[in-house]
Amino acid sequence: MTSNGTGTHGAILQDAVPADDGPIVELRGAGKSYGNIRALHGVSLAVHPGKVTCVLGDNGAGKSTLIKIISGLHQHTEGDFLVDGTPVRFSTPREALDKGIATVYQDLATVPLMPVWRNFFLGSEMTKGPWPVRRLDIAGMKKTADQELRNMGIVLDDLEQPIGTLSGGQRQCVAIARAVYFGARVLILDEPTAALGVKQSGVVLKYIAAARDRGLGVIFITHNPHHAYMVGDHFSVLRLGTLELSADRSEVSLEELTNHMAGGAELAALKHELAQVRGVDVEELPEEEDLTAPVATSPEGTP
Ligand SMILES: Nc1ncnc2c1ncn2[C@@H]1O[C@H](COP(=O)(O)OP(=O)(O)OP(=O)(O)O)[C@@H](O)[C@H]1O
Ligand SMILES: [Mg+2]
Repeated sequence: MTSNGTGTHGAILQDAVPADDGPIVELRGAGKSYGNIRALHGVSLAVHPGKVTCVLGDNGAGKSTLIKIISGLHQHTEGDFLVDGTPVRFSTPREALDKGIATVYQDLATVPLMPVWRNFFLGSEMTKGPWPVRRLDIAGMKKTADQELRNMGIVLDDLEQPIGTLSGGQRQCVAIARAVYFGARVLILDEPTAALGVKQSGVVLKYIAAARDRGLGVIFITHNPHHAYMVGDHFSVLRLGTLELSADRSEVSLEELTNHMAGGAELAALKHELAQVRGVDVEELPEEEDLTAPVATSPEGTP
């Protein structure tokens, strides 16, 4: 069930979504050691069709290690990894892709100078005509790319424009639509909003929701509890390689999630440290959420 360039497999794989609500991908007590370093330990996670599972955690928490296991880049060294209820052990990303697990990395694998439609089909071009005169089906690819982008609610003025001229957010959206078209059942997004501004993040979040509505199980990796809470059905917070929190939306509020992410106590300690450095009253410091506000950079603010 790989991409074979006919342009029809997207529809075929859509039917392969399990009718029941069982998880497509599941980790049970999974872990990964790199030699002596235990990057991930005892992590359980289930990805259901039509649901968004958010994986949150600070730098080095093990988020990338987790998705590398699921996307077939690395193998787990403890616990179980199941796809459609069957234990698996992928040795290449191709094997994960064949099971419908697609990963959109932050540094998208696109060719900036090629038109949008060409990038949409990159590596899986549509062809027509009998062998040996098979040739690229350019009209077919343009039409399909346009249709698929529209189906996801993505409207671009001109599919002939080089993909490099699109904004980062738009490129993420094209990558999401592409994964949907090529039959992904599970879509893994590695910090898709990390480098984006508020507005563009909103656009990407909208397409995460669109992929979910089309029945995909989405794994959304992010540092940002606000972004996670806007689209998430389940939240898994990693801390030093273990699950600190695994909760459905109904079990956790945005405030609680933010606290788990930030480590409430650590943030309070940081506030005091900053106060000592600057020699100001703690009460004058902004509230936790505003710690990145430009207080420290304003010229009047410096002693
Ligand atoms: N190939 C590797 N060899 C050895 N240690 C590794 C390797 N990859 C990751 N680690 C370690 O595993 C831990 C988890 O790393 P990981 O990259 O999964 O974190 P992360 O949550 O993705 O962090 P970030 O937000 O910075 O991307 C870290 O301590 C890291 O140093
Ligand atoms: Mg990472």
